[in-house]
Amino acid sequence: MSAFSGQRLDKIPAHVPPELVYEYDIARDARMLEDPHARMHSLIREAPPIFFSPCNGGQWLVTGKKAVVDITTNPALFSNSNPGGQKEATAGLSLLPISVDPPQHSMYRAPLNQMLSAKSVAGLETAIRAMTNELIDKVLAAGRCDFLPDIAEPLPVTLFLKLAGMPTNRLAEFRELALQAASATVDPETRAGTFKRIAGILAETIQARQEKREDDLVSRLLDANLDGRNPTFQEMMGYSILLFLGGLDTVVNALCFGVRHLARDQELQAKLRADPSLLPGAIEELLRLYGVASLPRRVTRDEVFHGVQFKQGDALLLLLPAANYDDAAFPNPEQFTLGRTEQHMTFNTGPHRCVGLNLARLEMKVFYQEWLKRVPPFRLDPEKKPRFAGGFTLALTSLPLVWGE
Ligand code: HEM
Repeated sequence: MSAFSGQRLDKIPAHVPPELVYEYDIARDARMLEDPHARMHSLIREAPPIFFSPCNGGQWLVTGKKAVVDITTNPALFSNSNPGGQKEATAGLSLLPISVDPPQHSMYRAPLNQMLSAKSVAGLETAIRAMTNELIDKVLAAGRCDFLPDIAEPLPVTLFLKLAGMPTNRLAEFRELALQAASATVDPETRAGTFKRIAGILAETIQARQEKREDDLVSRLLDANLDGRNPTFQEMMGYSILLFLGGLDTVVNALCFGVRHLARDQELQAKLRADPSLLPGAIEELLRLYGVASLPRRVTRDEVFHGVQFKQGDALLLLLPAANYDDAAFPNPEQFTLGRTEQHMTFNTGPHRCVGLNLARLEMKVFYQEWLKRVPPFRLDPEKKPRFAGGFTLALTSLPLVWGE
């Protein structure tokens, strides 16, 4: 049993059998805070692939890869429409397209498929390279940095501002809002206030683009074809907020965990420096080893699924980082192995599979190319330990690195 300190149910619901109960607090579990991915690995070995935790108000947690795939590809039974109370958290706004189930989902998703295709995002490569190099310039001579605030946070925020067509001089303000929005510990009222501020800023951009189109995502979305009409203002807000949030926390943490792995594996660093063509494969394996997002779903009707009795309204959380350690899919799952062919779960699967994955992969490829080219062999700062956080996203809260001493 995990250490527990958090809101929990006094009673286990009658339809949950005792053998499926295992306490796991997604934000406060002590072993998770010690090493999130080691904890994900232990969870999939110690708990059933679908188990019920009384923590966090009581919910089902899913770790087995097959169970996750079967759930995310069955949206009629496992809905994504406000499954974890996001509407309350986002000041009443529906995030698009994530909070819409099929069949309506495909109408909302289609414009993003086009705008974020590999071909469309390729045009951003030069800008990403320039942003990465500017950030490296600021830390290189010092021989040390805290990778999180110095590189991993500013990079995706700057890119979002550029994509959305917003002035990069709002970087500091946006970074702060992004941090507040992503915080696992912030109270619901403060979170709703943060969303209102983000919404206010995005509304200004949408209004400006309604008057005059530019070469950016907001302009293209305004002209998107939703079954013969253009998106309403509310729909534009739903898209913009999700694009802002979707590409921040996830990229920040994927970069941090990947760089932490390299900081502890000098041989792999040397191998990738010597042969950068290995990078795309290495990035996929780092994404598998260090999944970040866990996804909420809500059961739509009473049904037995994978041998488990679910009741309408039950909450689920799909622990994608744990599913990546399922040894039925990934032999020796804790090992970094180039050339695996099985698809990892970090971007999920099914209708909501990450639509930003081409951009995320491009950001990471360009980042690693430049970082490995310019920064000498780097390692964890022996004086300062990395710190972690949990919740819907596994995160580092600090990653001090040193090089060249
Ligand atoms: C390493 C970085 C990233 C990771 C790990 C990640 C992960 C995910 C996951 C797991 C989902 C599925 C959600 C669900 O099924 O409920 C998702 C969806 C989504 N992601 Fe990402 N993401 C990343 C980067 C990005 C970026 C850069 C963007 C923005 C350009 C983005 C935008 C979105 C959007 C809009 C959706 C919703 C898709 C839909 O509902 O059809 N993501 N992401």
